[in-house]
Amino acid sequence: MADVGVDESLLKSVAVQVATDAAELVREAWAGMAAGRSVAVDTKSADTDVVTAVDHESERLVRARLAELRPGEPVLGEEGGGTAGDDGVTWVVDPIDGTVNFLYGLPWFGVSVAAQIGGVSVAGAVVEPASGRVWSAARGQGAWLDGRRLGVSAPSRLELTLVGTGFAYSAERRTRQARFAAGLLGRVRDIRRNGAASLDLCAVAAGWLDAYVEHGLHRWDWAAGALIAAEAGATVVLPGAAPDLGADATYAAAPSIAEPLRKALGECGAADV
Ligand code: IPD
Repeated sequence: MADVGVDESLLKSVAVQVATDAAELVREAWAGMAAGRSVAVDTKSADTDVVTAVDHESERLVRARLAELRPGEPVLGEEGGGTAGDDGVTWVVDPIDGTVNFLYGLPWFGVSVAAQIGGVSVAGAVVEPASGRVWSAARGQGAWLDGRRLGVSAPSRLELTLVGTGFAYSAERRTRQARFAAGLLGRVRDIRRNGAASLDLCAVAAGWLDAYVEHGLHRWDWAAGALIAAEAGATVVLPGAAPDLGADATYAAAPSIAEPLRKALGECGAADV
């Protein structure tokens, strides 16, 4: 049921517009890199946790466009920080999700923009600069890839389930994550580590993955993608909601295997990752 006064469709169209504008900036920079132009790179939490000048430019553009289209609404962004408002809409932005892919020339990266109210995503878009694909959703209105309505897959058994995951930048944590993934490997069809959480959640929405699980995501990684997965019919668990999966796990799964997979994740030590 929509909140009185919340126009999810309008918020979605703003998310799509702004993410598309930023994706064009990122696409041009990416094409420039492919042609040999260099891009300034810095590091954050670890030497492997990179941020490029393009991440900053993309976030500046998103913030400027939101200030025009939605003046006064707070923005929480991966690079510029910020805090969520107490009430009303907060915009949650990842200016390039999949920065390592972007830097290496792999096309799986996206600009993610979501509108949240009280920490709950009500509209969002993830736009892929390399392909131009636009993933979007508004609460109660389904999930879309360009003009096509999305629906999750329906694997019949856990053993036939393709699971996406991701690893943190901290060496210590990724060692625990690798142990967890190793336990899971023998129980499912296979595991993918594609490198952009927002798009991996969109992949669940499209049935390109049957499920996705990762510990330690930030709000900007999942805010748009988790709504897109949920609106496509996935069973979604957000960080803080399920101690059996680990306090900071993000989980999205096709309902046909959501329960057995969740149980298997618990048996593989998800709570201790
Ligand atoms: C990262 C990607 C990656 C996930 C990491 C995220 P970034 O985001 O989504 O797939 O495994 O946990 O931090 O750093 O590219 O914006």
